[in-house]
Amino acid sequence: MNTERIVAGFLGTGSCLPDKEVTNFDLEKIVDTSDEWIQTRTGIKSRRIADENTATSDLAYIAALNAMEAAGITAEQLDSIIVATITPDMSFPSTACILQDKLGAVNAHAFDVGAACSGFLYAASLAKQFVECGQAKHVLVIGAETLSKITDFTDRNTCVLFGDGAGAAIIGPVESGGIQATDLGANGTGGKFLTLPGGGSRMPASHETVDNRLHYIKMDGSEVFKFAVRIMAKSSETVIEKAGWTLDDLDYLVPHQANIRIISSAGKKLNLPDDKVHVNLDRFGNTSAASVPIALDEAVRTGKINKGDKVVLVAFGGGLTWGALAVEF
Ligand code: ACO
Repeated sequence: MNTERIVAGFLGTGSCLPDKEVTNFDLEKIVDTSDEWIQTRTGIKSRRIADENTATSDLAYIAALNAMEAAGITAEQLDSIIVATITPDMSFPSTACILQDKLGAVNAHAFDVGAACSGFLYAASLAKQFVECGQAKHVLVIGAETLSKITDFTDRNTCVLFGDGAGAAIIGPVESGGIQATDLGANGTGGKFLTLPGGGSRMPASHETVDNRLHYIKMDGSEVFKFAVRIMAKSSETVIEKAGWTLDDLDYLVPHQANIRIISSAGKKLNLPDDKVHVNLDRFGNTSAASVPIALDEAVRTGKINKGDKVVLVAFGGGLTWGALAVEF
């Protein structure tokens, strides 16, 4: 009997960004804002927006193909597909099932996870469990969003922040390194600070909900900001400790791309110089569940993360939720 312990890790990553770029200057023409305000308060310069014919599963599909190619895995070899999203193609079937069909991943079970911007960390954590308990060998984990479809482009408090995109990873058994520890958490009491009130069973879609713009993201930015600054550092520290690392061991941080001030604060608390913290929100904005896997894919493909590096992935989001992974590549 083989009693060797299986350890799960990242076998390959991929991403997909829509072609259309919307700059701060473009938004200046739609709402009462300025490039200067957006850059100073958030660090964002532009974002990618999906066209009207593109749904979340379309972006997820390309990201998935890229991750499968990087990992050298075929669709038939996938045992599980987990899609983290708050902008599914529709309530059901799940975006993961739509994707399973597009990929022809006939051997995979498939489901969605809803943890807003922390969704990829929740999904990757589940994938680790599936692999390490022997229930699955290859798990396709995706964070994919078309937030532009639920963004109110008359609300300057939110419309300057978000973008669309998808990031994917294949998680499977590794011979060295792997996911050393995870930290997941939630504070439902703070859920009211970030919501999409309309269209669910509490407030089903009606002319009234549409007229009142209740199918768009509503956010109390300063409350979310305070939570984010605290939790990004805390969750990173927790996962580092669980992995048996010290702050000095950490080679790279892949944080959720919501606001440069939140990212800088986390980097400082972890004693990391700027070049050890991945930043792409200037180009892509906040892509919610897609943000961490897009940043991860970029970091891997540009050689910022190399074999043997100790990396923390960390995010916060609606729920309120948070999640972190300590990974040795
Ligand atoms: N352009 C110009 N002025 C603006 C804009 C804008 N786009 N947006 C807000 N303002 C104004 C406000 O109306 C306010 O004006 P007032 O003082 O006259 O009322 C002023 O700017 C300051 O607003 P604050 O909220 O204090 O600005 P702050 O520095 O907190 O920055 C921000 C706002 C960027 C939203 C910040 O709070 C933030 O990043 N919060 C976290 C948001 C986040 O990460 N959300 C993630 C959720 S994603 C998900 O899970 C789906």
